[in-house]
Amino acid sequence: MPACPRLLSLLPLLRTPPSAAAAFFSTAPPSRGCPLHAALARRGAPVSASLALYSRIRAASPPPPTPFTFSFLLSALASSSPPPSLAAARVAHAQAFRCGALAHPVVTNSLLKLYLSLGVPGHAHARGVFDSAGSALDVVSWNTMVSGYGKGGDLGAAREVFDRMPERSLVSWSAMVDACVRCGEFGEALWVFDRMMREERFRPDAVVLVSVLKACAHLGAVERGRWVHRYLEEEGFGGTIGNVMLETALVDMYCKCGCMEEAWRVFDGVRGGDVVLWNAMIGGLAMNGYGERALGLFRRMLQKGFLPNESTFIVVLCACTHTGRVDEGKEIFDSMQKHGVKPQREHYGCLADLLGRAGCVEEAEALLLDMPMEPHASQWGALMSSCQMHNDINVGERVGKRLIELEPDDGGRYVVLFNLYAINGRWEDAKAIRQMMEERGAKKETGLSFIEWNGLVHEFVSGDVRHPQTRKIYALLEDIERRLKLIGYVKDTSQVIMDMDDEEDKGITISFHSERLALAFGILNIPQDMPIRIVKNLRVCRDCHVHSKLVSKLYQREIIVRDRHRFHVFRDGVCSCNDYW
Ligand SMILES: *[C@@H]1O[C@H](CO)[C@@H](O)[C@H](O)[C@H]1NC(C)=O
Ligand SMILES: [Zn+2]
Ligand SMILES: [Zn+2]
Repeated sequence: MPACPRLLSLLPLLRTPPSAAAAFFSTAPPSRGCPLHAALARRGAPVSASLALYSRIRAASPPPPTPFTFSFLLSALASSSPPPSLAAARVAHAQAFRCGALAHPVVTNSLLKLYLSLGVPGHAHARGVFDSAGSALDVVSWNTMVSGYGKGGDLGAAREVFDRMPERSLVSWSAMVDACVRCGEFGEALWVFDRMMREERFRPDAVVLVSVLKACAHLGAVERGRWVHRYLEEEGFGGTIGNVMLETALVDMYCKCGCMEEAWRVFDGVRGGDVVLWNAMIGGLAMNGYGERALGLFRRMLQKGFLPNESTFIVVLCACTHTGRVDEGKEIFDSMQKHGVKPQREHYGCLADLLGRAGCVEEAEALLLDMPMEPHASQWGALMSSCQMHNDINVGERVGKRLIELEPDDGGRYVVLFNLYAINGRWEDAKAIRQMMEERGAKKETGLSFIEWNGLVHEFVSGDVRHPQTRKIYALLEDIERRLKLIGYVKDTSQVIMDMDDEEDKGITISFHSERLALAFGILNIPQDMPIRIVKNLRVCRDCHVHSKLVSKLYQREIIVRDRHRFHVFRDGVCSCNDYW
């Protein structure tokens, strides 16, 4: 039976108050067709009342709904935006149950999808349906659970369901890889993908490869990314739809790994393309310190008639920031409306960052205070970096205090203000901040560095001793330090201050920051003619920055570090960021 056509038009009613829905039905009783919508429209009424209404209508107006009606209804609810209330979903569930429609996997799967789309409270209901459905489950049901949990950020639950699956299709593996990526477990995503290739010998499709490329991009695992690229070149990119998605993922991966030539080559080879692809390339250029080229590409994009979207302006403003082009940035910001994009909080934040870094910290502060929406901590945090960079204690003190107020549990917020005070000799204030931090037990995020070698991603934390090569790594670091001393490297004498400045654990000496361990591992294992690529989750600290520059000269190595904010390419004693990060 075709789905009841009136149902769709009734969906909006599910979001109106029950009284309004009831009023509608009293003027237009649904005497024919699918009787469900009446009961549904009484959203908010107890399920028993809905059922009573439902049976009344059902007795009065044949024909009764079929399982397909429910499948349609539930899918429509799952994809409606904004999502329906949990109560509406439960009414639909009750009706489907009452009609025995849940004996059909198709209906059960739609119901699972609906519940899973409703966040954590929905998850529990989905679980209940899933656990009691028995023979009404098929492989799609299991996949739906894995992918729903992944989208909801519950990797543990996704894993648990995946592990118990009686049989797994390519979609199952793909859902699991995607769940890992969405939950930020990129190493695990690659591991799951490897297992799939080993155990099942499925031919990977565009969907799973896009997830794999995302994981590579985050980990800076360019070797694995290149493998995907080669695989695609040998096997073909698939249909035209898969094409742009994959090509964009490749461009993004190469950019995030700092391989700009390869990114360009893929980008240049794309026929067609869309705004997402252009955003990836422009953003990649900006992030790698090629601000001018990013702006040039943006102009080319406009000439070619592509319509920039809200993300385009973020990356373009970021390009202006890296090149210090205040006037051009302001102009671009003002032109947004003309392109049909309303400036959001993030755009104001980018403009404030541009102003702040260029030294106009007061103007930046004024902009944040005057913008139409409330700035987030990240926007204030960017301004705080500018205050540090220009050592502006007046604005910095205000902003620093505001940040501590906004995020009292984030130790990093105390540290920057502590430093600003200390550098300006305001010891009493500095001490007070440190005390406040200790009293509140605020913690700093742990520093993590990743380096890929031989198909494996090696992870280091500060002072890490878990790696099998630990002994060799520490020996090399000591050796490096000795050799650096000979060429005049002195550790920053403001070390007492820096003790709290480094974004890593206070107790661990600066010499064993995670990126130094990763760097030593790279020198030990990666051949001389290959660059050493490191990904770090926090900002590189000053001392490590100096250290990397010197090591690049001493060992004649190219060192590429991607930190939280940008890329640093260290070659022959200098860094591509010109010490501006
Ligand atoms: C704009 O582009 C980004 C990718 O760069 C994409 O994620 C986003 O969905 C796009 N926005 C719109 C409204 O299409
Ligand atoms: Zn460091
Ligand atoms: Zn640098």
